[in-house]
Amino acid sequence: MKKIEKTPKNITWDMSSAEKGEYDDFMLKEIYEQPKAIRETIGARVAKGQKVVLDELDFTKEYLQSVDRIYIVACGTAMHAGLTVRKILEGFCKIQTEIDIASEFRYRDPLVTKNSLCIFISQSGETADTIAALKLAKSKGAKTIAISNVIGSSITNEADYSLYTHAGPEIAVASTKAYTSQIVLLAILGIYFAEVLGVAEKEVEKLKEELLSVPTKIEEILKDTSKIKKFALNMSKETNAFYIGRGIDSSVAMEGALKLKEISYIHSESYSAGELKHGAIALIENGVTVVGIMTDPDLTHKTISNLQEVITRGAKTFIVTNQDLENVTFDEVIRIAPISPYISPVLSVIPLQLLAYYISKEKGLDVDKPRNLAKSVTVE
Ligand code: AGP
Repeated sequence: MKKIEKTPKNITWDMSSAEKGEYDDFMLKEIYEQPKAIRETIGARVAKGQKVVLDELDFTKEYLQSVDRIYIVACGTAMHAGLTVRKILEGFCKIQTEIDIASEFRYRDPLVTKNSLCIFISQSGETADTIAALKLAKSKGAKTIAISNVIGSSITNEADYSLYTHAGPEIAVASTKAYTSQIVLLAILGIYFAEVLGVAEKEVEKLKEELLSVPTKIEEILKDTSKIKKFALNMSKETNAFYIGRGIDSSVAMEGALKLKEISYIHSESYSAGELKHGAIALIENGVTVVGIMTDPDLTHKTISNLQEVITRGAKTFIVTNQDLENVTFDEVIRIAPISPYISPVLSVIPLQLLAYYISKEKGLDVDKPRNLAKSVTVE
């Protein structure tokens, strides 16, 4: 018999983190836990004026300069989180970055080489397609990093390096705090790469300050949710919704639309705003809801113009923004604090999570356990 040596791993989750406490549902509890979860994700990794500390990694400038491509691979919400870090990796680090769905990556014979760096994101660490994609990347000789919320999960056992989000247990099927903590951890990782490479010093310093401000800014959004609740009551009667944004806002549009369909069973689609006129605008008719997200000053005026096109066709608009809206009238505008467009989904997603939550409650659905879905998809 072969003896296997295992090092014990401590998990700091306590019983109360697996109970609803004062909340009706785990999803609502987890939405409200986001400031705390993000503080835990940041932990001692980021401090103003100091280099990011990621003790788990030992990358050198020479190694990062040799990386031909970064692949970020995940499923569902974790993949949406992956989309947000491309702007840092390509914009600051100048490393070409591809974000892929694990179930596609594993079957498309990707051009992964021994100079590729592959990052796999999974809250549970047990998603079958993500594990298979990781094994494939390893078999091609790539270096692999796992990002997970669960200590000792399968992807962390397989990967060369593991980083934990430390968001605490996420019980509701619809992912909320795992998503925002993944975005924060990915941004920290991007900053680490930029610092090892010695690039974009000023921008990276500013981004660290912005990261440290995130928990307080989420608390501000959570203080008054009445406008979101009111809009949700009307929207709950609908059968279709569209989510649009550009750049990083298009990734949060994807996440907002997924949250809505998952727990409210309302058909929802997300589009990069510029794609609307290439087909989907045919579906815009009187009364349909269009959710617009605008956090990037370089792209806001473009999205506004797309929103004007849908308003002309009778759409109802729900806007999440921190931008100047140039005197255009929308049905509802949820204002979030100013934040760098490199990480803005950590704030802009909060009203979208709440919108889906309140609609699901209004429809009397089981928020935490939506039909046909499992928390962890361990089969193909
Ligand atoms: C999110 O609300 C979903 N429940 C789902 O998309 C989930 O993010 C996906 O199945 C990936 O799960 P993982 O992060 O545990 O791998």
